[in-house]
Amino acid sequence: MLGSGQSAKMPTKIVIAVVLFFSCQLLLFWSNFEDLDEKKASLEAAVARLERRKDVLRKQIMDLERESFRINKTLLRSEILLKDRLPLLKNPRNLSPIFFVTPTHYRPAQKADLTRLAQTLKAVPNLVWIVVEDAEKLSEGIAAIVKSSGLQYGHLHALTPTNMKLNESDPNWKVPRGVAQRNQALSWIRTNFAGTVRGVVYFGDDDNTYDWRLFDEMRSIEKAGVWPVGIVGGQLVETPMVSTTNGSVVGFNARWKPNRPFPIDMAAFAVNVSLIHSYPNAQFSYEVPRGYQESTFLVGLDLQRNELEPKAANCTEVYVWHTRTEHPKLNSFDRRRFQLRENLTDVERRAVL
Ligand code: UGA
Ligand code: MN
Repeated sequence: MLGSGQSAKMPTKIVIAVVLFFSCQLLLFWSNFEDLDEKKASLEAAVARLERRKDVLRKQIMDLERESFRINKTLLRSEILLKDRLPLLKNPRNLSPIFFVTPTHYRPAQKADLTRLAQTLKAVPNLVWIVVEDAEKLSEGIAAIVKSSGLQYGHLHALTPTNMKLNESDPNWKVPRGVAQRNQALSWIRTNFAGTVRGVVYFGDDDNTYDWRLFDEMRSIEKAGVWPVGIVGGQLVETPMVSTTNGSVVGFNARWKPNRPFPIDMAAFAVNVSLIHSYPNAQFSYEVPRGYQESTFLVGLDLQRNELEPKAANCTEVYVWHTRTEHPKLNSFDRRRFQLRENLTDVERRAVL
């Protein structure tokens, strides 16, 4: 009986113990489960914070990458500029001077064209800018542009004879431009640089486009140098043809009046200043057919085709373009006031005078 009574008590204790044990486990599990929930929530918040931080950092990286790209581009540009200019800047006074002759005439775009040209030339070392106005007297506006270029300069004037200056709207307008002005510059060089045998003379019109490298090329000219000119004479480029065997100029590709002694544009050549002194009568002329200005002058210097020195990488590069500024269409009120230089407001004067 005892035995059976004892044996009936034991399972009850065990059951209680087991129930207690499992209750504890359940409680433990439950509390852990609640903990996990909290942990999960805080981890999720941390993940969200990190995601936000990641976005911010990604944006910062992109900004920095953009900035570094910009800096690299600027660096590259500066390197190229430096490499191009350094040899010139080392000792500009040692470089042969360039006498850059610019005839210029009164028109609405004159100030704009000359401003652009001045800003091209001001970066060229040892260049003398000879600006010759087609006018009765010097104008203040042009004097200001020439002076502010910081270049050594000559500011002259020479009026085109009236019989040579027909109206541009005349269909027979075939008079050569810049003749009297270039001749005036030649005589100024002959007088003011009489003893100078080093340097080159170049006729650079006020509306063309010049690459700085053109000036580096022309300094080494011994007698006369030639090179291609872009967009001229109805062609994409007019160029001397250079022999691949001996490197001399053997012809020209010009289609307009190809039989001229030198079928090239005014912008296509420069000559050594010593020739200007050796041939004091060489100049431009109103007496020759249209297109013969360049030939007349070069023949006057007793030059032969085979003496021409090809420049601009053997005439394979283009460093000057015969661009032309469009004649602006002004209303008659503005046109009249511009022609008379009268009743212009201050800001109008600053635009064109
Ligand atoms: C082309 C050539 O490139 C010029 O070198 C040449 O003088 C000219 O033809 C010509 O007809 O003889 P293009 O663009 O037709 O050039 O001429 P412009 O640019 O109108 O004139 C050449 C230079 O002479 C310019 O610097 C211009 O300002 C000046 N010019 C023009 C004058 O001094 N007076 C004028 O009445 C006209
Ligand atoms: Mn022109």
